[in-house]
Amino acid sequence: MPELTQSVRLDVDGEIAVITIDNPPVNALSFHVRQGIYDGMHAAAADDAVKAVVLICAGRTFIAGADITEFSKPPVPPSLQGAQDAMENCTKPVVAAVHGTALGGGLEVAMCAHFRVAAPGAKFGLPEVKLGLLPGAGGTQRLPRVTGVAKALEMMTSGEPIGSAEALDCGLVDRVADAEGHDALLAAAVGFARQVLAEGRPLTRIRDRSDKLAHDPGVFADIRQKIAHRTRGFLAPEYNIRCIEAAATLPFDEGLAVERKLFGELMSGNQSKAQQYYFFAEREAAKIPDIPKDTPITKVGKAGVLGGGTMGGGIAMNFANVGIPVTIVERDEESLARGLSVIRKNYERSAARGSISSDDVGTRMALISGSVDKGDFHDCDILVEAVFEDLELKKSVFAEFDSIAKPGAILASNTSALDVNAIAAATTRPESVIGTHFFSPANVMKLCEVVRGEKTAPEVIASTMALAKQINKIAVLVGVCHGFVGNRMLFMRGIEGEKMLLEGATPAQIDKVIHDFGFPMGPYAMNDLAGLDIGWKAEKSSGSTVRELMCESGRRGQKNGRGYYVYDPETRAATPDPEVEEMIRAFARSRGGEPRTLSDQEILERCLYPMVNEGAKILEEGIAIRASDIDVVWINGYGWPLYTGGPMFWADTIGLAEVAARINENHARLGGEHWKISPLLQRLADEGGTFQKLGAKR
Ligand code: 3HC
Ligand code: NAI
Repeated sequence: MPELTQSVRLDVDGEIAVITIDNPPVNALSFHVRQGIYDGMHAAAADDAVKAVVLICAGRTFIAGADITEFSKPPVPPSLQGAQDAMENCTKPVVAAVHGTALGGGLEVAMCAHFRVAAPGAKFGLPEVKLGLLPGAGGTQRLPRVTGVAKALEMMTSGEPIGSAEALDCGLVDRVADAEGHDALLAAAVGFARQVLAEGRPLTRIRDRSDKLAHDPGVFADIRQKIAHRTRGFLAPEYNIRCIEAAATLPFDEGLAVERKLFGELMSGNQSKAQQYYFFAEREAAKIPDIPKDTPITKVGKAGVLGGGTMGGGIAMNFANVGIPVTIVERDEESLARGLSVIRKNYERSAARGSISSDDVGTRMALISGSVDKGDFHDCDILVEAVFEDLELKKSVFAEFDSIAKPGAILASNTSALDVNAIAAATTRPESVIGTHFFSPANVMKLCEVVRGEKTAPEVIASTMALAKQINKIAVLVGVCHGFVGNRMLFMRGIEGEKMLLEGATPAQIDKVIHDFGFPMGPYAMNDLAGLDIGWKAEKSSGSTVRELMCESGRRGQKNGRGYYVYDPETRAATPDPEVEEMIRAFARSRGGEPRTLSDQEILERCLYPMVNEGAKILEEGIAIRASDIDVVWINGYGWPLYTGGPMFWADTIGLAEVAARINENHARLGGEHWKISPLLQRLADEGGTFQKLGAKR
């Protein structure tokens, strides 16, 4: 019987046994896969006719890792180690044949084979760090023994995979097949196994090697310094480093014990739970309950962007980056030239940093054309409007789009808060109108809120979601309301921040609390970066908010060196401005306020709980499909720390009863609509429920 378990089979062809894993979608190491490898290895070892074993996978990829869905459940035997031992200790050559991605536990299994043969496009990586973990099946001890310490540090702290050519170069792979495809890979692996037999090659176990472990003593301090900024607050990168230190200094089994201990600590902690939750949350966001997977989509062969300013330029780059020709239309030649030159400078900066080649600069610029005539949009499959945030202007622009765009073209607005239904109503084809709310800088930030209007057609939604994926964005579908999901919640933090300033907190104190929580920057530093005068008009300013006062006193933020902070013209270093603090105190006094000291805990709660409350209202109203979509928005659009899972998951981990109690107390003490508890949140708190368990709506 070739079937060993539901997902693993064993075929014997002469002297070669082939164990094939077929566990769609990604051949994760579910219990029946572990059992199958174990049984297959023992059967092959016991069969005297078999002289060598090839382990290969069916479908789109080699084993992509442990089955993450099993992590939250009680352990199911057999352990992976039994299967790995059976491979590593086999007295017959074992060859892993790798295509697609050998990730995490998948690579750890492959490293227990004596040899590895790869398809040309195969990738190898230990991405556990991205799940708040470290490789827990010997990978931390085996990888440095194959690739050397420095390379292993790079791979395990970034979680990024390497390709076949690099894997061959550093010794992780013994041979690369000539062509892609299951048959070509199997033939290459079987051929390699026969050659090993013919040559009588020794079977070296990676665990017994130490030839690559010599390292520069500064290598650990260097990597810690290099990743410090990017990984602030995360536990897993440091734990991965400690395991490699153990590999470099201790015997294999002692290193393995370190790995096991640190893996256990990470696995039982909140960070890895949050990061695993996020892994699935990001994938869930692509699923729209009322839009079937097979909804026909419009392929975008050419795009148009109206407005080549801060956002339009970045949006155009997104298209060019994936080879889609794009036309930018500006209101005059001067603005057009400025927009195009900013794009060129951005590309040149990327080339100088080495993230793209200098040829790429030319190729991408050649895909971007400029015009001052909207008529040039006539053959575009999508038009993205990125002009000033003014509803009347947007309506008139969309009326023009309606008369120019070809039938079936997607008409998208990059508005950050305005009513997409009102914009759609300015056209005779509201079913083609949708919001695509990119985040600044649009060529860098991963998030795109896709805003579904009342009349937006399912095909337009499906096409826009697919296009967002094509241009490497994480798209989250949201409904129409002021500010959609992200900005609507941000406004709540802003309202409470202003109140706390008037009560006696300083911008620097609020920023520090938010930064310490894990955001890259606090709200006031962020406002300074974006520009304090966005949406501010001198003639309408009445000195009624701190921000208006700032603008009236000539403070524009980083761009003129003065905002909530004073900026060093050379280094751009920010220093709190005593004049600003005095201005806020005077303003507070004029309103009868007596300054007091606010604790960091009070500031944190008052910044974040109104956001959770608003998130619950957003769910209630069906503006977001599911709570995890809100988390995906906040993590990718605003830098909410991934290791806390996003606002809704974070609230779940605190306990909704506690969160609701604090919101109700604050409502009684401070008043305000944003503190009025969401009935949904109150219900979940009363029932002992969580946002996570709510599921999807619509
Ligand atoms: N366990 C369970 N399900 C998984 C999975 C895993 N390791 N990896 C992917 N899936 C699921 C996804 O949830 C998705 O399900 P859905 O279709 O129901 O939404 C489906 O497989 C397809 O995944 P993607 O949409 O991500 O498909 P792509 O083709 O874009 O990417 C991939 C494929 C590169 C393999 C990507 O899925 C990926 O990076 N997976 C995670 C790899 C990983 O982190 N491995 C390490 C796991 S931890 C580990 O091994 C611990 C060990 O050290 C003991
Ligand atoms: P911007 O002021 O940098 O750019 C707007 C551009 O549109 C200017 O170059 C202007 O010349 C051009 N323009 C104005 N009217 C035009 C017309 N009738 N025809 C052709 N071009 C015209 O503004 P920014 O920041 O790029 O914002 C654009 C839109 O994106 C706004 O709706 C804004 O709310 C939204 N947005 C902005 C974000 C940001 O952080 N800047 C973030 C997300 C959305």
